[in-house]
Amino acid sequence: MSFLARHRTSRLPVVAGTIALVALSCCGTGDRDDPRGRPGPLREAATASGVRVGAAVDVHFLRSDEAYAAAVARHFTSITPENAMKWSVLRPAPGQWDWSDADTIVAFAERHEVEVRGHTLVWGQSGGNGLPGWLRETTDPDEFRTAVVEGITAEVARYRGRVDRWDVVNEPLATTGTELDQNPYLERIGPDYLAVALTTARAADADAELWINENLTEYLPAKADALVQLVRDLRADGIPLDGVGLQTHLFIDVPLRPHAIEDVARRLREQHVKVALTEVDVPGGPTRDPAAQARLWARATEECLDAGCEEITGWGVDDGHTWLDDPANRAGNPALGAFPAPTRPLLLDPAYHPKPTYKAVVEALSTTSAAASQQGG
Ligand code: G3I
Repeated sequence: MSFLARHRTSRLPVVAGTIALVALSCCGTGDRDDPRGRPGPLREAATASGVRVGAAVDVHFLRSDEAYAAAVARHFTSITPENAMKWSVLRPAPGQWDWSDADTIVAFAERHEVEVRGHTLVWGQSGGNGLPGWLRETTDPDEFRTAVVEGITAEVARYRGRVDRWDVVNEPLATTGTELDQNPYLERIGPDYLAVALTTARAADADAELWINENLTEYLPAKADALVQLVRDLRADGIPLDGVGLQTHLFIDVPLRPHAIEDVARRLREQHVKVALTEVDVPGGPTRDPAAQARLWARATEECLDAGCEEITGWGVDDGHTWLDDPANRAGNPALGAFPAPTRPLLLDPAYHPKPTYKAVVEALSTTSAAASQQGG
């Protein structure tokens, strides 16, 4: 029986687990939000290799902090709205939309010739703000389904031709389990909610790439199997699905099996979907060895590239702005207490200077593009 068929007949309870998720020498600074500013080495390496290098951006800092905005434009070729496109922000009340944050991000991207990864349309996030309270409280299945279809249609249509890829469904699987996450979408629409979401998005923009986005598969082999099976089922059912994002929130102290990231990525590619690392961060903390952190960033990049994936996005721009240190997140998620703040998980330091992690990613990208051009001729 297929993965989805099993869910159509039985809805297993959420599997509680031991890994609590929770569900990232070379350059100066000083640029302002100037479209003519020179690209940094990371952006140049991304362009040369044809692999997008992205960052999750917070619209409030993009608006208020010129140095933050300049760093985004200088170093990255893709941005993912960290929160601005979540329905908890966009759809504050039934029938109401607030496009201001999302519009700011898309306009910024166009000004700086940076791509946008739309994040995220459908996110059940048990216990979090992935979906707005009013939608969580919409218990009538027909009303719920209508609100979901209307939401996807309005958002994807608004950014048609401007957002070229969407995380249509975020975290469909239970955090540490192998079944679909027991969330309001599953409860009210059933396991076909993924198909509903993906086909609705395709109808709203025939050209946008449609992705699902999942976490922890590099650490949890059974969850990786479940993700591959889910993708196989969706494709076998003819559901439009172009890519799978692997979030890749990494833990320095938890050993990663050899080629763990590459294996999952390869198996997904065998299902004829694109693959990206979509939310990389490596909390190192104030006292950790920067070289170990850089090695893990390099390893993630290399494994991703070896498997033919096409994007590496970090979950944040710089160490001064990371969800891992955010008091709101820490209060809502005690598991984050395992990482002493400041966690310093990203490629740029709080002054927007490139870190050893940055250099490691540039080197990995450059090596790969050199190897590719040698092979090509
Ligand atoms: O904006 C409000 C602010 O007005 C309020 O005063 C403050 C205090 O409660 O909260 C602020 O909102 C917080 C928001 O981040 C902006 O900082 C929310 O409480 C907080 O829950 C929210 O957390 C975000 C989280 O997703 C939940 O949506 C994180 O920033 C964001 O980094 C995180 O991103 C997720 C990805 O979307 C999916 N994968 C996992 C990843 C990390 O959890």
